[in-house]
Amino acid sequence: MLCFCFVQVLSHAAAAESSSLVFLCIHRQHYDFLESLAPQLKGKVLVDVSNNLKKNLYPEANAEYLQRLVPGAHVVKAFNTLSAWALQNGPSDANRQVFLCGNRAEAKQAVAETATKLGFSVLDRGSLSAARELEDFPLRLFPEWRLPLLIAIGLSAFFFFYLLIRDVVYTYVVQGKDISFRIMVSLANKVFPIVSLIMLALCYLPGIIAAILQLYRGTKYRRFPDWLDRWMLCRKQLGLLALGFASLHVFYTLVIPIRYYVRFKIGAGIISQIKENRTSEFDNSIAWRGDSYFSMGILGFCLFLLLGITSLPSVSNALSWREFSFIQSKLGYLTVFFCTFHAYLYGWDRFLRPSTYKWFTPPGYMLSLIVPSLVLVFKLLLLLPCVDRTLTRIRQGWERCDPEDDSKKTLLT
Ligand SMILES: Cc1cc2nc3c(=O)[nH]c(=O)nc-3n(C[C@H](O)[C@H](O)[C@H](O)COP(=O)(O)OP(=O)(O)OC[C@H]3O[C@@H](n4cnc5c(N)ncnc54)[C@H](O)[C@@H]3O)c2cc1C
Ligand code: HEM
Repeated sequence: MLCFCFVQVLSHAAAAESSSLVFLCIHRQHYDFLESLAPQLKGKVLVDVSNNLKKNLYPEANAEYLQRLVPGAHVVKAFNTLSAWALQNGPSDANRQVFLCGNRAEAKQAVAETATKLGFSVLDRGSLSAARELEDFPLRLFPEWRLPLLIAIGLSAFFFFYLLIRDVVYTYVVQGKDISFRIMVSLANKVFPIVSLIMLALCYLPGIIAAILQLYRGTKYRRFPDWLDRWMLCRKQLGLLALGFASLHVFYTLVIPIRYYVRFKIGAGIISQIKENRTSEFDNSIAWRGDSYFSMGILGFCLFLLLGITSLPSVSNALSWREFSFIQSKLGYLTVFFCTFHAYLYGWDRFLRPSTYKWFTPPGYMLSLIVPSLVLVFKLLLLLPCVDRTLTRIRQGWERCDPEDDSKKTLLT
């Protein structure tokens, strides 16, 4: 197939005169010259595709500034959220969505038709006052991941140094042994599951706090405090990061049997038994402990994966709200339960042994059990029939009357 492209070289004024739809592909700093073209641009649709290097660089959005410079034109903000890659490779291989906004419906319709012809799907964001939001869009850098990432980094750093001191430094100072090699696998395989368990519990803690607040206030119609709102909104990211850490824990666990240190210890144990001519008895309780905590870990991890899969937009879109909240909320609590008991069973009777508390500090997994245990205990309290009934009624719109308000009402009548 032969394709002919016709390009005409025209002055700015002639170009503006001869077209009904003008794409303006220059930086905001150069908009001033358009003032002189105001007569030619009158009644034309002017598409502003510009972006800025930083947020809040100018007091008004580029598109609003353009509309002020050329009041006779119909400015539409569009195409600025598409990358050069998307424009070059076409919509089949990149982001397909074109956001647009503008004050005149006919102008937006003209731009929408062009975008649709190019194979993009259009999303109208309303009047030109939405331009600022569209211009900030390409400058976003995972805003909803920031808080969960900070929590993950903070917890990892804390537990890494805590366990380094408790395990490696303690052994060096007290027993004179260098076990620093354990940082790479053993320590990592403590930090990752500990952080994962705490972050998993942090997904469910705001729901508990919200429920307590609703019970206390006796209504669901009052806004939650900002910090709680923000916390609730980043639960998905908290959960996905927790799943990432749990997966690392599972991978690290898989290599335990092939580690040189483990193989050496097993070999040395057998040799010493032969030398001393003794056999160790099979210990039923050790077998129970190992099997139980493995089983809880596996069940917890499978449910964790299910939560992760249902949070994929393609899967969650195929679920009804009831199905989604059954998995995320009910099975989510079951996940917290399994993972928490995995760690409790891992601890087994070591909670009671004084030698566990090196330098009077509890091991990391004991600390990691605080938040999930609180979440489970409070959830059980919220499930008590009398509490649950009131909470359900509040969520269905019922409001508890304030006795003071009631007495005021009676006085008024
Ligand atoms: C791997 C993984 C993936 C996750 N993915 C997602 C995800 O994609 N999306 C997501 O949102 N979360 C996700 N999460 C987080 C978590 O699973 C969900 O937020 C879960 O729904 C929380 O359950 P909940 O029972 O605590 O809270 P919710 O059921 O959300 O309830 C929270 C609080 O809101 C209030 N409330 C609930 N219903 C009403 C009502 N009808 N009227 C008024 N107030 C009400 C109550 O006070 C309640 O306690 C994920 C977690 C993990 C581990
Ligand atoms: C396939 C699933 C899992 C298996 C096979 C498994 C296995 C193990 C093993 C072998 C240990 C002991 C590690 C060691 O000796 O250092 C352990 C510890 C632990 N696991 Fe898991 N686990 C699984 C899933 C999970 C999940 C989903 C969580 C929680 C999110 C979790 C949380 C913990 C915690 C907190 C510890 C204690 C870490 C420590 O301080 O030593 N595990 N697990």
